Amino acid sequence: MTQEINKTVQALIWTGHSLKVLDQRKLPGTLIYDEYEDAAGVTEAIASMRVRGAPAIGIAAAYGVALSVTQHHAYDSVNWQQKVIDDIALLAQSRPTAVNLFWALAQMQALLAQALDDPKAAFISAAEQIHADDIAANIKMGEMGADLLAGATGVMTHCNTGTLATGGYGTALGVIRSATKRQSLAVYAGETRPWLQGARLTVWELAQDGIPVTLVADSAAAWLMKSGAIDWIIVGADRIAANGDTANKIGTYSLAVLAKQHGVKFMVVAPTTTIDWDIDSGVEIEIEQRDPKELLPACYDHEGSLVSAWNPVFDVTPAELIAAIVTDRGVVLNPSIETMRGIKDAI
Ligand code: MRU
Repeated sequence: MTQEINKTVQALIWTGHSLKVLDQRKLPGTLIYDEYEDAAGVTEAIASMRVRGAPAIGIAAAYGVALSVTQHHAYDSVNWQQKVIDDIALLAQSRPTAVNLFWALAQMQALLAQALDDPKAAFISAAEQIHADDIAANIKMGEMGADLLAGATGVMTHCNTGTLATGGYGTALGVIRSATKRQSLAVYAGETRPWLQGARLTVWELAQDGIPVTLVADSAAAWLMKSGAIDWIIVGADRIAANGDTANKIGTYSLAVLAKQHGVKFMVVAPTTTIDWDIDSGVEIEIEQRDPKELLPACYDHEGSLVSAWNPVFDVTPAELIAAIVTDRGVVLNPSIETMRGIKDAI
């Protein structure tokens, strides 16, 4: 997959027999790819956040299944399926919140039920299709989201939702990319503690594309909105419930509450593969808790320490705080169980 849709380096490169994963933990200082040839390796790449961002996680997992089929079918062309099912279960444990992971695995698992002349080719082609479809969805959402930004002069985004987090181009960052081609737009990126996806990834990615961006501390968001500089907050999503409640990177909910207070509009941008139609509201979304070590200064990380850390890495923004959800099947204004139904019917 080498399609060039922007200048940013790609998070995932399929070589034909392996998956190269850009190690995002090392950005922006070091640009290095790790190469994987089995599902266990891809599982580790997702769990360790070498690759992150809901759509990119789903795409990586799909390639992980293709690698599993390649490996096990070559070894035992009669009883290979059970090994692939085991690998799918392993990949499913890599991260809990992004529903794109489970969506992609379900797509791949469905292929197992089909009689295939060449399983390896069929699974590789299915993973490549998931990758290509995600890029196409992003470009579409970029244009639709940019339509909503007509007249806007300032936007703020959170986390990293760009090429690094998707098949390419990005969701919320895709909208920002498309809008900056049409109009002059001041772009602000929150640093996104504790993992600093904004400070390390988003500002780097935009700069690679020649798009000026201003980094702000997460705690500066209220004051920035108060200044009048922001018309829209634009974020991605890890899982959207049937009523429009949206799980995204920790701190998204705070931004939505602040946006309401300051009369700033709030946009979520996500492909329909991020919608979990099986859950009625955000209450049912599992919120990933990561290792306190990702937050805790090393001096407190020892037995008997009186200092611990609570490290939920996502939160849920209630639909009533969201002005628009932009998907590849259309825009839902004022999301609710009723307005979301239009998107479901379009699938
Ligand atoms: O923990 P991460 O970096 O995987 O979290 C990523 C986000 O929260 C993104 O906003 C979301 O996945 C959308 S990416 C297009």
